Amino acid sequence: MITRREYLKLSMAAGVALAIKPGIIWAGDRDLPMITRTIPGTDEAVPVVGLGSSATFRSVAEAGEYDRIKAVFEKLAGHENSVFDTAPGYGGSEEVAGRLVNELGIRDKVFWATKLNVAPRGGGSADPEAAREQLERSFDFVRKDPIDLIQVHNLGDVETQIPILKEYKEEGRIRYIGVTTTFPRQYEQLESVMKNYELDFIGVDYAIDNHTMEERIFPMAKDKGIGVLVYAPFGRTRLWEKVDGKEVPDWAAEFDAHTWGQFFLKWVVANPVVTAATPATSRARHMADNMGAALGKLPDEEMRARMVRHIESL
Ligand SMILES: NC(=O)c1ccc[n+]([C@@H]2O[C@H](COP(=O)([O-])OP(=O)(O)OC[C@H]3O[C@@H](n4cnc5c(N)ncnc54)[C@H](OP(=O)(O)O)[C@@H]3O)[C@@H](O)[C@H]2O)c1
Repeated sequence: MITRREYLKLSMAAGVALAIKPGIIWAGDRDLPMITRTIPGTDEAVPVVGLGSSATFRSVAEAGEYDRIKAVFEKLAGHENSVFDTAPGYGGSEEVAGRLVNELGIRDKVFWATKLNVAPRGGGSADPEAAREQLERSFDFVRKDPIDLIQVHNLGDVETQIPILKEYKEEGRIRYIGVTTTFPRQYEQLESVMKNYELDFIGVDYAIDNHTMEERIFPMAKDKGIGVLVYAPFGRTRLWEKVDGKEVPDWAAEFDAHTWGQFFLKWVVANPVVTAATPATSRARHMADNMGAALGKLPDEEMRARMVRHIESL
């Protein structure tokens, strides 16, 4: 067990809320506390690393490899209220994940984040009736009511779809609402939606080699008290290609990172505006690796700058 003195030292180094949970996990040669963040304006905490469900998770779910997905969820659910990010737009992911968390009996341990979008691709209006049908399907899949978070996917017809989410929130069927995008062409619109609507969350792309969010979106999220989910923290395959065949530098141990996954995730979640990052994975050992990024120390600003320089130099 870590001592209180060590805990306080870690909290100060991280500059963020560190909560010692009953489920402290053993990592390497000592027990380390799980790092959590509080959702702005609430006292609800979530671990800073969760799970996403497009990419490989989606392929494995659609291939019917349910034991693999179950093993990933078992690792995720080891930590109370971990964020799982899904969407009706991710093929079979939402349905398979909903069924499996019920089979495993862990539904209520997971912070369930799904999305809404029935607007045509490339713009156009959403049919309100189709939007309500899509929401009801999401409730049927997970059998959780209220659902923790539902966001308008890729800013599809927000004029129609945000008010529908708001209506469900007022009825107590959704706890938090938000919008997502990872398309640079939509960042300006994202800013105006953040200005004009009351949102609890945004979901956006951010990574050690992708800092655009720091310019305008993150400062606005901070000012307005909006939670931030980070998508594509590995740039899907981009960062893996960059470090292929290269060793994690020794000095990463100073902030408890022992793998490239932890290096990339710790850089992301060390930004205090980030509520949680939700990397996608289809492998339990990668899930455990990623959760390891939510343990122990986080890099400070000076160290984060060094990490960026290191990645740029590869
Ligand atoms: N507009 C939106 O709403 C939006 C857009 C993009 C993403 N998202 C959300 O964000 C999630 C994450 O983004 P993403 O899926 O695009 O990309 P990502 O999380 O940056 O990367 C996923 C890739 O990293 C690999 N990986 C994960 N952990 C690893 C580890 N520890 N070691 C080695 N490889 C590892 C995965 O393969 P393995 O299966 O082999 O681990 C997968 O190929 C999505 O799944 C989705 O939930 C939302």
